[in-house]
Parts: sequence; C-alpha cells; structure tokens
Amino acid sequence: MLNVKLVAVDDTPAGLELLSEALQQEGLSIFVSTDPEEGLELIYREHPQIVLLDLVMPKMSGLQILEKIVDFDPAIDVILMTAHYTTETAVQAIQKGASDYLNKPVSIPALRGRVEKLLADARRRQRALELDRELLDTCRFEGMIGRSPLMWDLYARIRRVAQHYRSALITGPTGTGKDLVAKALHNLSPVASGRFVTCNCSAVVETLFESELFGYVKGAFTGATADKMGLVEFAHGGTLFLDEIGDMPLTTQAKLLRVLQNQEITRVGSVTPRKIDVRVIAATNRDVQEMISQKQFREDLYYRLAMVELSTPSLAARREDLPLLEKFFLERFSEQFNKEILGITRRAQIQLARHSWPGNVRELENALGHACMMTMGDMIDIEDLPLSIRRSDGLKAVEVSPVSEESFDSVFSFDSHEKELLAEALEKAGGNQSEAARILRISRDRMRYKMAKHNLR
Ligand SMILES: Nc1ncnc2c1ncn2[C@@H]1O[C@H](COP(=O)(O)OP(=O)(O)OP(=O)(O)O)[C@@H](O)[C@H]1O
Ligand SMILES: [Mg+2]
Repeated sequence: MLNVKLVAVDDTPAGLELLSEALQQEGLSIFVSTDPEEGLELIYREHPQIVLLDLVMPKMSGLQILEKIVDFDPAIDVILMTAHYTTETAVQAIQKGASDYLNKPVSIPALRGRVEKLLADARRRQRALELDRELLDTCRFEGMIGRSPLMWDLYARIRRVAQHYRSALITGPTGTGKDLVAKALHNLSPVASGRFVTCNCSAVVETLFESELFGYVKGAFTGATADKMGLVEFAHGGTLFLDEIGDMPLTTQAKLLRVLQNQEITRVGSVTPRKIDVRVIAATNRDVQEMISQKQFREDLYYRLAMVELSTPSLAARREDLPLLEKFFLERFSEQFNKEILGITRRAQIQLARHSWPGNVRELENALGHACMMTMGDMIDIEDLPLSIRRSDGLKAVEVSPVSEESFDSVFSFDSHEKELLAEALEKAGGNQSEAARILRISRDRMRYKMAKHNLR
C-alpha cells in the first residue's frame, strides 16, 4: 500500500503526542516538531503529503509557514489548527492555500475524519499515476505518443496504407513528427527489412542534387573519378525518404517523377537506365498547394506522391495529449540525465497548457529537456521552464522567479556537484542563505530544501 507522510508542527508537546497517537495507522508515517523552524526543515526534508500546523506559535506563525509550504509544493495538504477561530482567518488561510481549518482543542474524531479523506485522496492520486503509466503504454505507436482522436486516426491510416503504398506524402507543421511517420510507414511495410535511406533535400547543394540522388559514371564531370551509386539505387529494395521535399529544385522534381513512373534511374553521364524497386516517402512542412500555384512545385509530382497523403496535426490541435507527452519526455530525460524526476507540479503543468506551441512537439521536447537539466528538485516547476514558456500568454496570474537563460550553463553541471556548489555559494555569501540562493539563481526555499538534503548549515 502507498505510504503517506504527515508532518505535525505544534509548540505544545502534549498536543502533538495526542495527535500522533490518535492518527497512528498502517501506511501513515508521522513526523512531529514543536519548533516552527525545525518543523519547516522537516517538511523540506520529508516532503510529506499532509501537514498539520498550529496557527499561533512563537518565532513563526502558522500562516508564515503555510506560505513557505505553498511555495515549496502547492500540492501539499495543510490543515491549520487554532484556538481562536474566526471565519475571516479561515477564509484567509484557505485563500493562501490551506486545505482545512480546525478548532482547538482539536476533536480527535473530526481530525481523524479529515486525515482519512486526505489519505483516500492521496491514494486516488497514486492510482491516477498508475493509470497514466498504463495509458502511456497503450498510447504508443511506433515511437509516437498520443491518445487524441487525431492521433488514433493517424495511427490507423499508417497501419492501413503501410502494406500497399508505393509513394506517400507527409505534410504538417514543423516539429509534429513527420520523420516518425515516415519511419513507421517503412517499419510496417513489406520492405521493413530493406534499407531506410534519408535524403534531406534542404541540405543538398542545388548543382549536386542529381548526382546525389541518381549517382554518376566516371568522367561525367570534373572530379568524377569513379562510378558512384546514388541514394535512389542505394535504397533499392527498401524506402527512400525525401525530407523537406519543398526544397527540391524543379528540374530534379521532373526527373524524380520519371523515376517514380518508370521505376528506373539513369546515372548522371550515362545513357543506360537501371531498374530499381523503391518506395518513396516525401515530407514537407510547407504549403504545397501554395507552392504549386507559385510554380515552385510540380503539380504532377504532387499528385503522384499524394496518392497517399498523411498529415500530422499540430500540438495545439491535440492539447489533450500534453500530459501524456510530458510524462513520456520526463521519463526519457530523467533517464538520460540520470536524475530522479518524479513529475511536474500542477502550476508548471498549467503554464504548459497555456502555451501556444508554435514549435509543436519538438518545442515541448526541448522545453522539458531544458527543465530536466535545470531542475534541482525532483519535481519540474515553473522556474525550471525556459523563459519563452514562462513568459507565455496569461502568465500574469503566476509568479515567476528570476532565473535567467544565462544561468543555463552554470546549472548544467549543478547536479553532480550540487553539494560543493551549495557550500561554495554559501561561503561567498558569508553564510547568508538568501544571498547564496541569489548567486545560484534559485528560490530561497529551494535553497533551504537543498541545504537540508545535503545536511548543510
Ligand atoms: N507524437 C509524438 N510522440 C513523441 N515524440 C514526438 C511526436 N511527434 C514528434 N515527436 C518528437 O519531436 C521531435 C520533432 O519531430 P520530427 O523531427 O519528426 O518533426 P517534423 O515534423 O519532421 O518537423 P520538421 O518539419 O521541422 O522537419 C522529434 O524528436 C520527435 O521524436
Ligand atoms: Mg522533419
């Protein structure tokens, strides 16, 4: 069963003892402190799901601690206890992020009831995480992730045409997985064991296009010192992937059309055609119709390729896939960076949901890669996200900490030398925690959390 942690902070030892005895049960670990500051350290270190807080204590009030807890992790459930209950303070506390407010002396059955509810809640969330895990496994298709109707439709089309296509055109905005679709088509085709050869048309110099694609014979031009095979021939028995086909010159387009029609090529400088058997997949993020009307793309080639046309939807059109994609990339990056990243805070998730994603899945992948590299905790939070996303529309409602892009490099090495860096910053700051946090460009609470983690004073 899921183990839930509870921290209780109250300056009267007798009250604490009573509480922990009353709440004792299997699956619940209880930590107590009679000192507010020590209690806060305990919260940073144990990262409990539930906190019981006395509202009135010397040194620091329950409300002050509450603010710090909400800053540390807004998902923690905080129950405030007070002998001086008023509706105003209760409302104020709940506005600040408390989940509940109890009268002192605390009625044990009432407290038990509240804690039971929170426990059930924590277990439900745990179950939801497990379901997410299953969902992620279910919604994978040939390296693609998505559970939206648009993605299921894409998967179905790929599955259907993969057995039969000779040529295909994949269109869609940048970063939407056109490369993945091309590979999926190949992997599910009868020539899956053949080669998958990619030609990135935007990277080929115009004058070299034809010799690159069709090869040449010795003496065809200066520098042609021996016969050379082109990519089309190399892909014989497999698939040729023409990426960014919108960048292919018109003359080459005409020759490509002939290859598709006749299934034969002629090397540059030769007159003898060679029979080839190749499937061709082309991809572009440009508006092909527009290019045709501008006479930049041959209409006949388009119709030949587009006998099978698949289009990849923008991320904005399938926002329901965001949580799944977030989970997928988080898992991948935490493995890649060898960090234990458990998830993403609710407020960071909300910020991701607000963004418009002009760069689609690639942008999301980069943003989460950045976040996983930056983060010093086990949850991705707003301050870990790239500036472009933190500044995204509607950000006003969310507080942003002053982490800047320049700190990226310095933070890159943070993880492995975390303790040394913390100690160094503290020394530089003359022991002043806020100053050290500023040097490291992290929030003060995160600094304290990190110090507790590494037993630094
Ligand atoms: N549905 C998806 N699930 C998981 N990862 C995806 C998905 N779509 C795209 N990606 C990832 O996003 C990145 C960009 O995808 P890809 O290179 O296929 O984009 P593209 O459509 O070819 O873009 P461009 O037009 O700029 O070439 C890749 O790292 C890819 O693995
Ligand atoms: Mg691409």
